[in-house]
Amino acid sequence: MFKNVIITSGPTIEPIDPVRFISNRSSGKMGRALAEVGKKKGIENIYFISGPVCEYPQDVLLIKIETAIELQNEVLKHFDKADVIIMAAAVSDYRSEKYYTDKMKKSNEVIDFRLVKNPDILKELGEKKKEGQIIVGFAVETEDVLDNAVKKFKEKNLDLLVLNELSDKNPVFGSDYNQVFLINKRGIKNVKKSLKRDIAEIIWKEIEDIKNNNV
Ligand code: CTP
Repeated sequence: MFKNVIITSGPTIEPIDPVRFISNRSSGKMGRALAEVGKKKGIENIYFISGPVCEYPQDVLLIKIETAIELQNEVLKHFDKADVIIMAAAVSDYRSEKYYTDKMKKSNEVIDFRLVKNPDILKELGEKKKEGQIIVGFAVETEDVLDNAVKKFKEKNLDLLVLNELSDKNPVFGSDYNQVFLINKRGIKNVKKSLKRDIAEIIWKEIEDIKNNNV
């Protein structure tokens, strides 16, 4: 049904100096599960654009990246031919303003450290979206979760938003399980706590429904 699919996955890492970086807790397990289920469905080309993680899926076109800017370049390279774009990567919203070529030495008790904003890649893809392309975004929220997510879904011109509610009961990062809400033009579905692999099956079914029914 789909020939070319982009899946971004894992964290981005934003270097500060030769030994330090800014990153996040993404394990890439959700992205990997989505690629594995996609392969099982017979998708020919999965461009799997991933930050550094422990395990990568098999039989994909693996593109390893580190920074948000590298991820942006790789997604844009393959965007025009993609039928589906799934942005499961946890992209760092900010990067260090400066890269220190020598290791930063400790100095004062408190230091000022400037961060600059990374591009919002998902938003850019929503703006570039062509007829027939399906864009799936992810969101992690801790407060006003549904209101924020519905706003994100509309503002970023998405077809599907997978909302992770981060809480003590649902730690999300690194876990094999997750509980999500799926938001599309028709409304909101609550997917009870399940293996990420099973959630990947449900997400792919939603994507197929969107394709078949123009949801
Ligand atoms: N994303 C992106 N570019 C960024 C940051 C995030 O493309 N610079 C994508 C992620 O791949 C994911 C979604 O946006 O699909 C995650 O968004 P989230 O971090 O929940 O929210 P933001 O849109 O970054 O807004 P905020 O952090 O203010 O909630």
